[in-house]
Amino acid sequence: MNIKNFGVIGAGQMGSGIAQVAAASGLNVIMHDITLEYASRGKDNIGKNLLRQLEKGKLTAERMDDILARITPSTDLANMQGVDFVVEAASEKEEIKFELFKRLDEICPTHTILASNTSSIPIGRIGARTGRPDKVIGMHFMNPVPVMQLVEIIKGLATSEETHQTTVELAKKLGKIPAEAGDFPGFIANRILLPMINEAIFCLYQGTGTREAIDTVMKLGMNHPMGPLTLADLIGLDTCLAILETLHYGLGDPKYRPCPLLRLYVESGWLGRKSGRGFYQY
Ligand code: CAA
Repeated sequence: MNIKNFGVIGAGQMGSGIAQVAAASGLNVIMHDITLEYASRGKDNIGKNLLRQLEKGKLTAERMDDILARITPSTDLANMQGVDFVVEAASEKEEIKFELFKRLDEICPTHTILASNTSSIPIGRIGARTGRPDKVIGMHFMNPVPVMQLVEIIKGLATSEETHQTTVELAKKLGKIPAEAGDFPGFIANRILLPMINEAIFCLYQGTGTREAIDTVMKLGMNHPMGPLTLADLIGLDTCLAILETLHYGLGDPKYRPCPLLRLYVESGWLGRKSGRGFYQY
């Protein structure tokens, strides 16, 4: 399929990152969020990212203008009626995703592929909410999207091979390297990453180390680019909790139980970088 018009649902850190790489690869992008303030803020963040690249001499002003001109913020889901491919990057909450896919299925043309950037919810569960489960697929980008090379691709039981191939080609067009993962909670990336982050939070909770010591051990001792607590703040503590709950419920193993300290932070509104306070202050 020749994809020209691309939709992104959600203009947060993942959605705006996906919109940026899609526009940079020459696609026309509609970036949807529930308020114009959120959608415009997403576009402003893209502008700031591009400006940094411009200042470093990695981008020309013409190229920056072209990328920005390709992105249209939107608050009406009906604007998705002209897109060939949509990536949903709304909050990691099942009810929200199920409702969005039901509505996208009603709005989008029959050829449109509906992808989810879910970090843990099985694709088959999402696809079952639509009349086109063969055209529903997981396309899981990593944060920060413009920098990270990986995209996890997840086929649900009903996803067609044609949908899969189109998605793999699109990931490559966006400059990413696709890796296949099975349709089980957390797929590969978060099945491995989140237990590590959760264990780091347990170390803090039980006084095994300070936040600085825990992060330093993993950064310098394992050569990770960021310590696990810093990374959790980048991902968003609410997202970390939601992923752990999906792993815990979906795999039924107590080893995935979220650390009570993580729950306390989330319930207190300490969500990481995006709220200005998580394990660190921003
Ligand atoms: N958006 C866009 N670009 C960004 C960025 C952002 N949020 N943060 C950094 N960058 C860019 C910088 O502009 C810079 O670009 P250039 O090389 O073109 O100059 C480059 O990234 C490197 O940035 P810095 O020099 O400032 O910092 P760094 O070298 O420490 O790298 C990092 C920053 C890339 C974020 C690095 O620390 C890193 O790789 N961290 C780990 C990230 C990670 O593990 N992500 C996966 C999270 S899990 C996930 O996303 C899945 C999920 O479902 C939860």
